[in-house]
Order: sequence, then C-alpha cells, then structure tokens
Amino acid sequence: MKNAEFQIDEAVRILSNDGIVAIPTETVYGLAASAYSDSGIAEIFRVKGRPSTNPLIVHIDSINKLETVARNIPEKAIQLAEAFWPGPLTLVLEKADSISDRITAGKANVGVRIPDHELTLELLSRLEFPLVAPSANKSNHISPTSPDHVLRSLGENAPFILNGGTCKKGIESTIVGFEGNRPRLYRLGALSKERIEEVIKVRIYHFSDAKKPLSPGMFKKHYSPKTPLITVEDPGMHMQQFKDLKFGVIYFKNGPKHNADFPFEVLSVKGSYEEAAKNVYHALHTMEQLDLDLIIAELLPNEGVGASVNDRLIRASSKE
Ligand code: TXA
Ligand code: MG
Repeated sequence: MKNAEFQIDEAVRILSNDGIVAIPTETVYGLAASAYSDSGIAEIFRVKGRPSTNPLIVHIDSINKLETVARNIPEKAIQLAEAFWPGPLTLVLEKADSISDRITAGKANVGVRIPDHELTLELLSRLEFPLVAPSANKSNHISPTSPDHVLRSLGENAPFILNGGTCKKGIESTIVGFEGNRPRLYRLGALSKERIEEVIKVRIYHFSDAKKPLSPGMFKKHYSPKTPLITVEDPGMHMQQFKDLKFGVIYFKNGPKHNADFPFEVLSVKGSYEEAAKNVYHALHTMEQLDLDLIIAELLPNEGVGASVNDRLIRASSKE
C-alpha cells in the first residue's frame, strides 16, 4: 500500500503539470491527462497516434461532479448513473462549457463515466480536475488490460504507469447516448445491453456499423492484433483448411480434448461470458507474440456480455 501511495503521489505530480499517466480502470488501462490541459490532451493524441476527430471520455469520481462536465441531463441518464457507477458505463451527454472542443472533437456532446478502480478513484479524489482518458494503446491496436500490455503497445512512448494489476472486467465500457432523448447504444461493452434495459425499462436501439458512425469506436476495424484473425462458429471445422499455415486458436470454453500441435487459449473453462471478456485482450496479446500466420477465434453465444466479446473479435478480424 505504501508503494501505491507513492505511485499516486507521482501521478498527481505529473498530471498537475500537464503530463500524461497510464491509469488502471476496471475495463482497460487509460491514457490520462487533465481535462483542462490542452497540452496534456495534445500529448494523448500524439502518443496514441489517434485522429483528432475521435473524442475522449471524461472520468470523474463522484456523481456530484457530473454537472461540471454535462448539462440538461436526461432522467434516464441519472437512473443509469445511479444504478451502474462506479462501473463500465459511459454516458454521452450535452457538454458543459468547461469541456473543450479538443475533448469532444468539436461535438456538442461529451462521454463521461466513473471508473471502478480503487487506485484511480483515490487519484481522482486528489485532483482538482477530471481526467480525460482513451484506452492506453496505439490507435486500432489491441486494448491493454495490464501494465505489460501498455508497454507492449506504446513502447518507448509509454508514460508513467499507475500499476493497478489486471483489469477485472477486461473490455471497454458500454456507451449510451440520448439522441432525440431516446437512449441508444453507441458501443457494446462490459455492461450488457440486457442489464441497461432492466433499469430503464425500454428497449435500447444499437447503432451497429452505421455508414456514418456517431462515434469513431463504431468504425469497423479496431482492437486488432498485427496477425490476421478470423472468427468462426466451430474452430474444429477449419483445422483441415488451414493445415499448411501456422495458426493459433482462441476457444470460448472447450479447448482440444487431446494434446494439440498448435497454440491455443481458452477464454473461460466454465463458460462465463464475463470471464471470457476479462481474458479476451490478453489472449489476443499472447497470440500476437507467437508470430503466427493466422488466429482463429471462436465466437460466443451472442447474448449478454458474450455479444460484446463477439463485437471485439469481429472488429479484430476486419481489414477495413
Ligand atoms: O472503458 C473505457 O471506456 C475506457 C477506459 C479507459 O475508461 N476508455 C475507452 O476510451 O475505451 P477510447 O477512447 O478508447 O474509446 C472511447 C470511445 C471512442 O469510440 C469515442 O469515439 C467514443 O468513446 N466517444 C467519446 N466521446 C464521445 C462523444 N462525445 N460522442 C460519441 N462518442 C464518443
Ligand atoms: Mg480504445
């Protein structure tokens, strides 16, 4: 704990001086700067290689601070915040004046959430400003769920990392917006669509792969390893077809029954969608390091958080 306190002191010092720090959250590691620092924000875009048209999520530590970030907040947004924060839900709301156009990429809306990680909540409570943070990986590369992944993805550009261990949810927050006052799903994530619908008592419409995405996270290609990847219903059916390639397989729950002569990962032996989400980016990072010709990934049943894991695997397989 002493070490954690020392690390938080260091993070406070860097962030208060317009610097950037990699922070742990329950979803993935974030690359954070003060929401009020133009140079800190510019540094995030530089280090990630992110186009300036892709907006950043603002992180706060208390629902009382929501009004410093957003205004005209719909009733259903408050219901969701009360039900799920701190947690893996980002709300897209009308931005307050304190939020700059650099954060929102010129949009009138801002994404905001309270992350559920002890160290980052402690850090936020010690700062006089919210933190903006995209995932701490190179744009379009595999998201990081451990300090090692941050180092792998950002290399020599990696900043100071607040070490909070492995992320317990393992995929990004679910994003909900309120265009025309109706709740809409902008990105599938660690909170299932079903759980959101239980709270707001209406069905929620998903903008999947819209031609003109509302949010650049809706672009198809994303979260990709450098190795080509295909998604399949049943990996066993494809082994023969790819026998001349060096391939690895990511299974949902049932790995090979006998010794396999190819590398593989099993996301959740007990068949839990949540456990699969926690492990999926780690599996992709591991496979990427094996110098394979192909990764074959098994799709999960398309329900609950299983649908969110599928979303990431399908984007990882996309070439455009
Ligand atoms: O779990 C998460 O959300 C993580 C952790 C670090 O909090 N953050 C994260 O950030 O995934 P990033 O930048 O990798 O993905 C944020 C997504 C992007 O697709 C962005 O386009 C969308 O959120 N977004 C942010 N602000 C938005 C806005 N005002 N309107 C629509 N989409 C927005
Ligand atoms: Mg990201």
